[in-house]
Amino acid sequence: MITLSTEEDFNKVCEEFEYFRLSKKKRWGYSKEVLKMLKPFCENINTSFEIGTSGFQCIRESVTPTDSFDARTSWPYEDKQFDIVIALQVWEHLWEPTDEQVNDWSIPKQKEAFNELKRVSKSEERVENNSENLEVIAQEREKWKKNSPHLNAPQKIIDCVEQAVLLDYAGGMNFEQKTFQGLMDSDQSKSLIHAFFAERKSNKIPELERGAKPRPISKLGVIGGGTMGSGITIAALNSGLPVTMVERDQESLERGIENVKKVYRRDVEKGRLSQEKADKILSNYSTSTHLKDLSDKDMIIEAVFEELEVKKSVFSQLNDIAKEGAVLASNTSYLDIDKIASATDRVGDVIGLHFFSPANIMRLLEIVVPTNVKDDVVATGFQLAKILKKVPVRAGNCDGFIGNRVLENYAKAANYMMEDGTSPYDIDKAIVEFGYPMGPFQMFDLAGGDIGWADRKRKAAFRSNEERYVSIADRICEKGWFGQKTGRGYYKYTPGARRGEEDPEVLSIIQEERKVKGIEARSLSSDEIRRRYFAAMVNEGAKVLEEKMALRPSDIDVTKLFGYGFPRHMGGPMRYADVYGIENILNDLKEFEKEDPYFWKPAELIVKLVEEGKDFNSLN
Ligand SMILES: NC(=O)c1ccc[n+]([C@@H]2O[C@H](COP(=O)([O-])OP(=O)(O)OC[C@H]3O[C@@H](n4cnc5c(N)ncnc54)[C@H](O)[C@@H]3O)[C@@H](O)[C@H]2O)c1
Repeated sequence: MITLSTEEDFNKVCEEFEYFRLSKKKRWGYSKEVLKMLKPFCENINTSFEIGTSGFQCIRESVTPTDSFDARTSWPYEDKQFDIVIALQVWEHLWEPTDEQVNDWSIPKQKEAFNELKRVSKSEERVENNSENLEVIAQEREKWKKNSPHLNAPQKIIDCVEQAVLLDYAGGMNFEQKTFQGLMDSDQSKSLIHAFFAERKSNKIPELERGAKPRPISKLGVIGGGTMGSGITIAALNSGLPVTMVERDQESLERGIENVKKVYRRDVEKGRLSQEKADKILSNYSTSTHLKDLSDKDMIIEAVFEELEVKKSVFSQLNDIAKEGAVLASNTSYLDIDKIASATDRVGDVIGLHFFSPANIMRLLEIVVPTNVKDDVVATGFQLAKILKKVPVRAGNCDGFIGNRVLENYAKAANYMMEDGTSPYDIDKAIVEFGYPMGPFQMFDLAGGDIGWADRKRKAAFRSNEERYVSIADRICEKGWFGQKTGRGYYKYTPGARRGEEDPEVLSIIQEERKVKGIEARSLSSDEIRRRYFAAMVNEGAKVLEEKMALRPSDIDVTKLFGYGFPRHMGGPMRYADVYGIENILNDLKEFEKEDPYFWKPAELIVKLVEEGKDFNSLN
């Protein structure tokens, strides 16, 4: 079942425990280390590391169910060495020490804890007076149903706690082990394990394998203090990097400074940060309205308006200003980095660093590799991700890179479904039911309709005549309805509200557009919506792979998991395709292709994998 089953592993954990407990005095240190090691083997690490390890059964004598639920957020058991007991429970199922081995242990606490464990496991007693316990359990069950409706593990854990108070040790243990095994064998568990390893693998890039070493990064310049520039600045300041932010004029600079400072003000107000710490972080922050103040920076990240000519003008100035060897990065969402680099005489130093909004929170960082960039510049991009604690993904230089390119395709599928007769609200619901925090139309409203509108205008001249174009979003934008920021988009928002209400006027616009095109409305079920949505997502993902814009399918999964809200328990779109069946994806694409051969044409890679009886995972 589990391969970490040697005494050596066990000793390592014990040593780490001692290390953290004695040298760092971190209450959570040990638990975190155990969690880290066990993470890939548990279904949902935040809620289930105790499951299958008799964790719940052994707590019966020490703590109440309320405590056991609280154990996730607090750790009040130091005096009882609860943590080491748990650890021994964990390891008992991986490797059970003999009495002789227990006697040989050099750390007395281990012996003590193990004896306590034995005492618990020998007991045939049951917990008495359970009514309060069962009430707490019922409340937890409801809470987790609401908070994590898609995850299996929390409900199963609650079942285990329930059985721990209802049965004796042996009965409870038997139940817990069976439950654990069931979870281990589930697709959810395997997808979470996939996500865990995918995240670690995205660091493996050819440049580093060829031996490239990152350039030093000790001073950062950020150009632009808008949504992204301020977020990038905060992310870097929080990691201890000194940042100079440059804006185009004093008024914009004031806005940029406010964008940065308000985040720290809020953190201090909410007690997340002390004023002293905030002041210390901000002491590394300087600002200017002159690019020449970036002349001593090791890396400069541009986050100005998404217009090629504006970006080229900034890069051409940087060419004269930046010190030799400085890495020049663009945070563009879609634009061609080669073209941006062409404004300089140092194309080897130019790279794309695509952050996600809010950049101080979102963990994904697409590192976009243009044609002539030097290996050590790519390595420096990955080094920056490490410093900022971001998850890097190496992306090729194509329109929208990995994330936005794939997004554009399933966004089109959503628009086609809408124009064909399914309400955008039903589409959002179907996608939320799948496990996303929001559906595509809610996301457009959050991101701002104007951004997509500008992009569509930019691409209009290159759009193929064969491509079906849906104008509904343009009609909505023409009214000035850009989503949450204007209080209206696909949804109507009352001031301050994040959740919008359905808008009959939007439905009328859709109906009018449908009428103009002579489309007869046909509403799809939630399942049909999801079939189309994910077929479009996977098909574009496969094209990204075919064109070598992503190194491996798991990098696409990481991109979607960390940047676009793909539910982690589904492992990412390419993993999802493997579970759903790549042949089923192909059949879906062929079915939809009859309606629109241009859009739904299956990627050659999908056809090839099906012919060869392989899945995406075979390419990881
Ligand atoms: N908003 C997002 O969700 C998002 C996500 C990823 C990437 N991006 C990309 O990041 C970039 C910035 O987007 P944003 O949303 O922060 O835009 P924004 O409009 O909020 O901010 C852009 C800022 O750049 C400043 N600026 C413009 N020209 C300048 C110049 N020559 N010198 C100095 N400052 C200048 C503007 O004054 C403005 O404050 C764009 O390329 C965008 O595509 C945006």
